[in-house]
Amino acid sequence: MADKKLFENLPEPQPDALLALIGLCRADPRPTKIDVGVGVYRDAAGATPILRSVKAAEKILIETQDTKTYLGSDGDTRFVELIKQVAFGDALAGDPTLVGVQTPGGCGALRLGAELLKSAGATRIFLGQPTWPNHAPLLGVARLETVDYPYYDTAKRTVRFDEMMKALEGARAGDVVLLHGCCHNPTGADLSLDQWDRLSRFVADRGLIPFIDLAYQGLGNGLDEDAAGTRMMVERVDQALVAQSCDKNFGLYRERTGALFVKAPSEAVAKAVYGNLLSLARTNWSMPPDHGAAIVRIILDTPDLRADWKAELTEMLARIRGLRARLAAADPRLAYIDEQNGMFSMLPLSPEQVLELRKEEGFYMAGSGRFNVAGLSDENVDRFAKAVAAKLPA
Ligand SMILES: Cc1ncc(COP(=O)(O)O)c(C=O)c1O
Repeated sequence: MADKKLFENLPEPQPDALLALIGLCRADPRPTKIDVGVGVYRDAAGATPILRSVKAAEKILIETQDTKTYLGSDGDTRFVELIKQVAFGDALAGDPTLVGVQTPGGCGALRLGAELLKSAGATRIFLGQPTWPNHAPLLGVARLETVDYPYYDTAKRTVRFDEMMKALEGARAGDVVLLHGCCHNPTGADLSLDQWDRLSRFVADRGLIPFIDLAYQGLGNGLDEDAAGTRMMVERVDQALVAQSCDKNFGLYRERTGALFVKAPSEAVAKAVYGNLLSLARTNWSMPPDHGAAIVRIILDTPDLRADWKAELTEMLARIRGLRARLAAADPRLAYIDEQNGMFSMLPLSPEQVLELRKEEGFYMAGSGRFNVAGLSDENVDRFAKAVAAKLPA
């Protein structure tokens, strides 16, 4: 007979600190409060509106879509073809050894990639410290052993590249190395092209498998600039995975739009990889949600909409870069923020100082000191910089 108290065996769920922060911020009545916790882009008015190009594509979709019947486990194959070109550029777009399937966002791509690796016999994955807190649980679910490598020095505000390379000396052929393609979350500190060059040669020589998380393409320095390291790596190695997300750069968040790309050593192996991706997708979500991918397909396939999306993305990027420059100009101790990319940077604050700023100023940021640059506005950026700088050592 089934255990009637089965669900009492469940572990206590881990509360999500960032979600809790949203609630706290919402409950704060101070009009001067600043939400720099949540990881979504905000415009100058503090809103996260639907892009014009997305709205226009949705209208086209409503008028032209004539069935809701199932797609396959690979999702919208035209979407995959188009986003492959955006992520990898013309040189790799037609590469038949680089195969992709649509996934429910970047999270789905990371999870599917982890399951593929496990199924292929991979045992270990190296994760930078710090990294996005969801990486370890998403990948750990495929029961890969996780090994940490040093990535960022919060006090010096730089990438610990030499230490990272030293730690990777301990990786064996077939071990997986998780990397952020651009706009590193949570630090904003990306590898330079020179570092990508050294790293990709090392990874290729040692037979390591890079697994690149490309969740913010276009929000750092531009679509091609942000993908340059990823492209270099994928060109140099014969096995790689790339988890791509459209949820930030198309502002599609809840539509869960992304893709997993895998590079195989030959076309024959690529075909086997593709077949395996379909089976794994089938047992996870059967097929990915359609709406977001259909929107991206329409935008990228319609020259006017494609141009408008690029203009909107450039506007988002310019706003982030402008705010970074303002923070950097406000105090020499914040100058590093302008060298970093994307929505996030870390402030070298203790958890106690983060709490003080919340109480005294109404600034809502993660306990680690990670803050969302796009959560600031032209009106409050200077006040934010001044109050933060007052907490930093001279
Ligand atoms: C580094 C990183 N990777 C992946 C994702 C997942 O994105 P998606 O919403 O497309 O699943 C995020 C989202 O916050 C992220 O920050």
